[in-house]
Amino acid sequence: MVETIQWTAQGVVMIDQTRLPRETVFVTCRTYIEVAEAIRGMVIRGAPAIGVAAAMGMALGVLGADPARLDAEMDRIAATLAATRPTAVNLFWAIDRMKTLYAQLRQRPVGEIRARMVEEAQRIRLEDIAINQAMGRHGAPLVPDGKTVLTHCNAGALATAGYGTALGVIRAAVAAGKKIDVFADETRPFLQGARLTAWELMQDGIPTTLITDNMAGHFLKSGRIGCVIVGADRIAANGDVANKIGTYSVAVLAKENGVPFYVAAPISTLDLTLPSGDEIPIEQRPAIEVTQLFGTPIAPAGVAVQNPAFDVTPARYVSAIITERGVARAPYQESLKNL
Ligand code: MRU
Repeated sequence: MVETIQWTAQGVVMIDQTRLPRETVFVTCRTYIEVAEAIRGMVIRGAPAIGVAAAMGMALGVLGADPARLDAEMDRIAATLAATRPTAVNLFWAIDRMKTLYAQLRQRPVGEIRARMVEEAQRIRLEDIAINQAMGRHGAPLVPDGKTVLTHCNAGALATAGYGTALGVIRAAVAAGKKIDVFADETRPFLQGARLTAWELMQDGIPTTLITDNMAGHFLKSGRIGCVIVGADRIAANGDVANKIGTYSVAVLAKENGVPFYVAAPISTLDLTLPSGDEIPIEQRPAIEVTQLFGTPIAPAGVAVQNPAFDVTPARYVSAIITERGVARAPYQESLKNL
């Protein structure tokens, strides 16, 4: 399995997800500003992967900062990384974790601060892989044997430090011997399903069928889909789930057809400060992602466009939320707090 993100002596190395599956190219970010640009430009994407990148960006920042003005520089570095993408709470979770460590270390010699910040960022990466594997163990028993799993966007190894959240549960079910195959929604407009989910599942030899987003209802009605599993970018205290645009439609269609709809996400994706999904900020992305396909116009010039990158699925459509600490079910107000 290809590495999504790594800390190296040269800098932070990421697989360029804007170029998959045509080319497997790695980019090296040598400064925190380059990390921020990589997050904003979707070179790295997916909530947990963005969190790991931000932590590594903070570590690169402290390495390059003027030791005489470290407090002010840390604030600037954190603010720059925080301004990249608004919806995935893992970004802010990782920045806060690095800021908390810095606050504990700030009286220490600069060499020690730098070493400990780098270690912490690497620890966040390794923890993320272990968390995804734990989520897989909790989630695999929910996956019906002999059926198809439908997924939306990419909540796989590429969206995390490795193994994946939703795709981690699928990987764990396959490893447990279940005979399953996957239907991947292509996920317009950025095509994370077609470009990334199909690519990484095929690398693993997991049988995968690509469908366009508007085919999901047809297949959910057919009786073939045993469950839906998706990831999340932010989960509010009442269990409302922000995830890639189109997730809400899939959830409603799943409920209508009696198909369980599962969300797999680490505890760092919970935002219990928000009472409901109504308060989750939704990123608006450029119109060009909708009006063009790889540089070719597919709509009349000047047409009005909306391009929200995420939607919020109300908790009543969510059959269960799979985390590294166990599976939460409604009422989420209590079950999420108890995790
Ligand atoms: O815009 P993206 O590609 O960063 O959106 C990603 C998603 O919506 C994923 O489903 C989510 O981050 C969970 S990834 C484990």
